[in-house]
Amino acid sequence: MPRWNKYAFYEQAVQTPARHIEMFVDMYRERHGKYARHLREDFCGTFALSCEWVKRNRRNTAQCLDLDPEPLAYGKRVHRARLSSEQKQRLSVLRRNVLSTTTPKADLIIGCNFSFFILKDRATLVSYFRHCLRSLRPGGMLILEMAGGPGMIEPMRERVPVYGRDGKRKYTYIWHQQQFDPITHDARYAIHFELGDGSRKNSVFTYDWRLWTLPEVQDAMREAGFPETFVYWETEHKGRGTGEYARTGHGDNAYAWIAYVAGALKKNGNPRRKRTAAD
Ligand SMILES: C[S@@+](CC[C@H](N)C(=O)[O-])C[C@H]1O[C@@H](n2cnc3c(N)ncnc32)[C@H](O)[C@@H]1O
Repeated sequence: MPRWNKYAFYEQAVQTPARHIEMFVDMYRERHGKYARHLREDFCGTFALSCEWVKRNRRNTAQCLDLDPEPLAYGKRVHRARLSSEQKQRLSVLRRNVLSTTTPKADLIIGCNFSFFILKDRATLVSYFRHCLRSLRPGGMLILEMAGGPGMIEPMRERVPVYGRDGKRKYTYIWHQQQFDPITHDARYAIHFELGDGSRKNSVFTYDWRLWTLPEVQDAMREAGFPETFVYWETEHKGRGTGEYARTGHGDNAYAWIAYVAGALKKNGNPRRKRTAAD
């Protein structure tokens, strides 16, 4: 049985860093006709995506932000340790609130696995977007991964077998949708694991989120001052999702969906706005 480590098990079950980075690179390049070089990864956890980013090109730099020292320590021990010393110099790991303005300014800020759903009230969400706006270069983009649809709110447990390189089942990842309040959109989820020996690790990760909708998030981005906001929705082929995302103004009424919402600055900078108490 593989050695139990909650971050290793989580990453193998839910993350695809190379595929995600490829997608973000394409989204930025499609808009600008050039590559993003400076990445900020928000809610980075074990920052596997940032490590992928610095490995991808020797001009790439990444700054990753998370409040919790535990996943950051795992990321340093496991992912950062595998980088060359030159790649390590282009990676900066910060134990820091994402509600902060950072330098150097980024071309691209990303937040994966619905992490910003932890920001439950609108004032905080808008404040987060303002910090992102100030941390971006002219032409910069903020791209956040979101999920929704009836399949994201019904009570259920989804069991996903995870296999090792030898093709044998290593463990089962269980996504547990525990509660949803239609009035507040507060939602509670948990991740459990069932190990190869039949033992269980319950509630290894728990989430207390607000399930924001796409128009709410886009409105908050506009209020924060993003001159442009748009959505990347999964394309379909013969009624099935392709795993590819395209910029669009309308989506199909999917039972459960993942999408990417973006806020973008104009290439020649952003109009200056006065600070408010909410900042
Ligand atoms: C769901 S995990 C996501 C980890 C990783 N981004 C992924 O895609 O799997 C959310 C992470 O956000 C961090 N977090 C929550 N609130 C934060 C905040 N205000 N500032 C920085 N990190 C925060 C938590 O510590 C946690 O590691």
